[in-house]
Amino acid sequence: VTVNIVELGEQGLTDYLADLTDILHATVNDGASVGFVLPYSQKDGRAFWLNEIKPFVSSGARVLFAAMLEGKVVGTVQLDIIKMPNQQHRCEVAKLLVHPRFRNRGIAKMLMAVLEKCAQERGRHLITLDTRTGDTAEPLYHSLGYKTAGVIPEYCRAPDEERYDSTTYMYKHL
Ligand SMILES: CC(C)(COP(=O)(O)OP(=O)(O)OC[C@H]1O[C@@H](n2cnc3c(N)ncnc32)[C@H](O)[C@@H]1OP(=O)(O)O)[C@@H](O)C(=O)NCCC(=O)NCCS
Repeated sequence: VTVNIVELGEQGLTDYLADLTDILHATVNDGASVGFVLPYSQKDGRAFWLNEIKPFVSSGARVLFAAMLEGKVVGTVQLDIIKMPNQQHRCEVAKLLVHPRFRNRGIAKMLMAVLEKCAQERGRHLITLDTRTGDTAEPLYHSLGYKTAGVIPEYCRAPDEERYDSTTYMYKHL
């Protein structure tokens, strides 16, 4: 069975809202640091996709990708197309998420490959991102050629306790 990476527009986001919600909900409840703290409900996840992401997908400010397996979304990532006139060559990776049941089979790498191709097609040749220092994603990004710009201590609250974790800023010139 093969995984396909597709771009989801506004309609796609609506069609696959339940899957996207499920991935975010499962990932946050699994302890990932992706912007939220516990408790985190399905309702919270659904509201995030609808209120915080959908408007930007509609306007074209964000490109949303989905990894499809047997008609379901099992992973996702977004490309933030930076608007500032002096950063037309730059874009940012946001919310790389793979459902906990489908990890470690290369899906994140596939998502990132398609994201980078999209960035290149749009003439964006600098990609930036940040990820919690020490998480699985950090070596993954390194293996894809991202370099560490630096570490900011106490950047974000841990999802499950009153503790502040570092974030690692990374970049790649395509
Ligand atoms: C980070 C995440 C997206 C990786 O997704 P994935 O589909 O499992 O990743 P892949 O299978 O493509 O793995 C890519 C590489 O990371 C490594 N890797 C993946 N999971 C790993 C783990 N738990 N421990 C060690 N290495 C791991 C793999 O070995 C692979 O390297 P290789 O191809 O050289 O063997 C996924 O773990 C996730 O959703 N985590 C929670 C959300 C998160 O932290 N997102 C990043 C926010 S910036």
